[in-house]
Amino acid sequence: MAPTDSDWLGSLRCPRCLGGLIAGEPLRCDTCGVGYPSLGGIPVLLEHAYDAIDQWRFRLSEFRQTMDATRARIVVDLATKTLHASTRARLQRLAESLERHRDLVTAHFAGAGLAPAKRTAPEQPGVPGEGSVTSYFHQVHRDWGWEAEGSQENLRALEVVADVLQPPLGRTLVIGAGACRLASDLHTRGRASLTFAIDINPLPLLLAARVLTGERVPLLELPLGPIDLAHVCVERELVAPAAVAPGFVPLFADAFTPPFADGSFDTVVTPWFIDEVPTDLATYLPVVHRLLRPGGTWIDHGPLIYHPNHTELPARYPSDELFALVEAAGFTIEQRRMDRLVYMQSPACTRGRIEAVFTFRARRGDGPTQPRAQSEAPAWLSDPELPIPRFAGLDGYRAPHPFFAAVVGAIDGSRSARAIAQALVDSHRVPQQAALPGVQACLAEVWRACGPSGSATRE
Ligand SMILES: C[S@@+](CC[C@H](N)C(=O)[O-])C[C@H]1O[C@@H](n2cnc3c(N)ncnc32)[C@H](O)[C@@H]1O
Repeated sequence: MAPTDSDWLGSLRCPRCLGGLIAGEPLRCDTCGVGYPSLGGIPVLLEHAYDAIDQWRFRLSEFRQTMDATRARIVVDLATKTLHASTRARLQRLAESLERHRDLVTAHFAGAGLAPAKRTAPEQPGVPGEGSVTSYFHQVHRDWGWEAEGSQENLRALEVVADVLQPPLGRTLVIGAGACRLASDLHTRGRASLTFAIDINPLPLLLAARVLTGERVPLLELPLGPIDLAHVCVERELVAPAAVAPGFVPLFADAFTPPFADGSFDTVVTPWFIDEVPTDLATYLPVVHRLLRPGGTWIDHGPLIYHPNHTELPARYPSDELFALVEAAGFTIEQRRMDRLVYMQSPACTRGRIEAVFTFRARRGDGPTQPRAQSEAPAWLSDPELPIPRFAGLDGYRAPHPFFAAVVGAIDGSRSARAIAQALVDSHRVPQQAALPGVQACLAEVWRACGPSGSATRE
C-alpha cells in the first residue's frame, strides 16, 4: 500500500506531538511541522527519523566491515594452517559466502534507497544485541524460508495464539512485529479490518514488506553451527506461503512513542516483546492500555526471558507476577496458557531452543489511561530541514569548543541544521559526511545547556 492511502494515513499521528500527518514525501506533521521520510515505501514514523536512518547507514557500513574482517581471517587461516581437505572446503565456502551475503544485504538496503556510511555519530543505547543491521536476521528466514524445509515454528505459534483469538480483531496494532509472519497471519486469520505492524529494525520489515506483496526475495543464511558442508551457506528465496488479506501495513515506529491517538485500537498484539524490550515491562503496560479503546483486547505471546544487563532483578517477573501486574494496570485476563515451543531451530543449524511461552488475552477496562508524556524537545532537533530560531539563553551561551561557537554563530532564525552543516563544510572544511550528525549532536548539547528557562521562546 502506498503511504498516501487515506484508509490508514488518517489513523497515523506525529510521534512527537500526536498532530495529524499531511500526505507526501516526507509525511509532515500538521502541528509541529516535522517531516517523516519513508524507506522502501515504508513510512519512518520515529521521533528522530533522520537520525535513525543515519544510524542504519552506519550499521550497514559496520556490517560490511565485519563481513570483510571475518573473511580476511578465514583467508589467513587457509593460507597459514595445515587443514584437512574437508575443513578447507568448509572455510572456502564460508569465505565466498560472506562476500555474497555482504553484497546481498547491501543490495536489499540499496533497493530501499539506503547506502552504507562511515559512522559519524555514536550508536544510540538500546536493547542488547539490536545494534546491528542483521539483528533478528534468522527470524526473517524462519518466517519466510524454513517452512518449505519442514519447520513447524510459524504454524505452531499461529495455532497457539489462535486459541486465545476472538475474531474479528478490528483495528489491530502489532508491536515489535519483526519479519511480520505472525503479525500478517493473525491479520488474515483474525479478519482484522486494518493492522499496523510496527518495528524499529529495518531489514526484517523491509524484506517482509516485499515478501508480502508476492515478491520472491533472495537471502543467504550462514548458520553459526552448520549441520554439514552443504549447510555452511543456504541460499533461499523467501516467499509468503499465502497472500495476506488487504489492510496490513508495516511501519517503522517505536513502541514507546507509537504514532497513534489514544484508544485507536480494538486489538494490540505483543509477540515476543514485553520481556525483551521495555527495561521494566510494568512501565509499558500503560502504553498498551492507552492504545486500546475501553473493552479492547491485548494479546501477548512470548517467553519471560529477561536480559540481565537490560532488566534489573526486581523487574524480571515470572508469570504469576506478570499476571498480577497486568490486572493491576486495568486489564482483566480472560484466557491464558503456557506451551513449551521450539524456537529458532533452523533446518540448517545444529542449534535450537525450547522455550516456555506464555500466551494470554486480556481485556482493557473502562478506567482512565495515564496521559502520554509529550516531547519537550523542539521540532528542529528532530527534523534537519526546519529553521532554527534564536532561542533564549543562546546569547549568553559559552561555547566549550570553536565548533560549538561556529554552530551557535550560524543560528540566525532561518537556517536549518542541514544549511548550517553545509555552511560549515564550505567555510570550515568540515567533512561532508560528518557535518550534519556533528551539527545535530552539537545543537542537542546547546539546547540542553541553555536550560528550561528559555522555553517560552524556544520554538
Ligand atoms: C524478540 S523480537 C520478536 C520479533 C517478532 N515479534 C517475532 O516473534 O519474531 C523483538 C522485536 O522487537 C523489536 N523492537 C525492539 N525495540 C523496539 C521498539 N522500541 N519499538 C518497536 N519494536 C522494537 C525488535 O526490532 C524485534 O523485531
